[in-house]
Amino acid sequence: MHRRPLLALFVALGLAATASACKKKDDAGTAGSGSSATGDIVIGHYASMTGNTAHFGQDTDKAARLAAEQINEAGGVLGRKLKVVTLDTRGDGADAANAVTRLIDVEKSTAILGEVASSLSLQGGPIAQRRKIPMVSPSSTNPKVTQIGDYVFRVCYIDPFQGKVMAHFARNTLKLDKVAILKDVKNDYSKGLAEAFQKAFLALGGTIAVEQSYSAGDTDFSAQVTAIKGSAAQAIWVPGYYSEVASIARTAQRLGLKVPLLGGDGWDAPELFGIAGDSLNGSYFSNHFAPDQASPKAQKFVADFTAKYGQPPTGLGALGYDGVLVIADALKRANSAEPAKLRDALAATKGLEAVTGTLTMDKERNPEKSVVVLKIDGGKAKYETLVQP
Ligand code: PHE
Repeated sequence: MHRRPLLALFVALGLAATASACKKKDDAGTAGSGSSATGDIVIGHYASMTGNTAHFGQDTDKAARLAAEQINEAGGVLGRKLKVVTLDTRGDGADAANAVTRLIDVEKSTAILGEVASSLSLQGGPIAQRRKIPMVSPSSTNPKVTQIGDYVFRVCYIDPFQGKVMAHFARNTLKLDKVAILKDVKNDYSKGLAEAFQKAFLALGGTIAVEQSYSAGDTDFSAQVTAIKGSAAQAIWVPGYYSEVASIARTAQRLGLKVPLLGGDGWDAPELFGIAGDSLNGSYFSNHFAPDQASPKAQKFVADFTAKYGQPPTGLGALGYDGVLVIADALKRANSAEPAKLRDALAATKGLEAVTGTLTMDKERNPEKSVVVLKIDGGKAKYETLVQP
């Protein structure tokens, strides 16, 4: 343990080669990579285990560990066991980059799982790409994430589709003409999803009543809500993360703004309802998975997760589980834990039955997935509709 700060320093100075020269014998990696050829196969998970978005990391990590445990019980992969090693990003970009470096250099990861947040995957991804260690983001939906390079994959849909689904829902199902936008300007996901919604909503003949913004971590939203109240908005598009969305909903209720909020997958956390109380009743958001509308495979996952952790998973858990399934499936088909072979096998993923759907990677390393729309009622999210790509 006491060697780690020193090692981190070497890495920070670009002296990774020097550092790896002192590695222990049993760590002997495949040429040019951090992964090892014998022993457990390490899946390095970088995740917000603490901080403002702790639910994202925790739910994903629980499910990733459940997947690894079940795969190991069934005999493991390539005669070896999967081992999930998790480093906390605290929701911070610099920590995310450091975590990926360490998961490769110190923990000898064969593959990287993470991050949830697009902004953090955009920090960690370039490192995995440069070191040629395959990375699978379970749930980063911003298109730029897999555009980092050919070693970066995801198991979720992307925001141009998610935004379009919600714009259609707002315009065609809810019959709205004017929607306000309230986005987080410190968050790549939020900015991208605001743009995707706006583009699709305008194309359908809708108009944007007013555009407002905030920054992750803000706690006072009264100025923005007041500005929206003064517009003719019939709903507010809030593509943010759950902590701020909940405060925004409460502020709207307190200031007497009685329009529904509409949002995306970033709302997905039980804490949303804890903070928001009944202020989100009648609001809608899109997600990856609805436990009350699940395939047999998904139902088994929900039952196993609930039995192990005493609470049901959210969509994040479902995607974290699928992230490990995809890596395990690719390892088997590659018949090797060599990063380059694993990368090729990941790119060739086809028809894999997973919890959130059937996964086939396209040329851009994104799978085609359906979007679930949920309605909030009585402090709970309920399945409303499912939209196929
Ligand atoms: N899609 C979000 C992002 O890219 C992360 C997220 C996924 C949050 C699923 C909640 C549930 O930043």
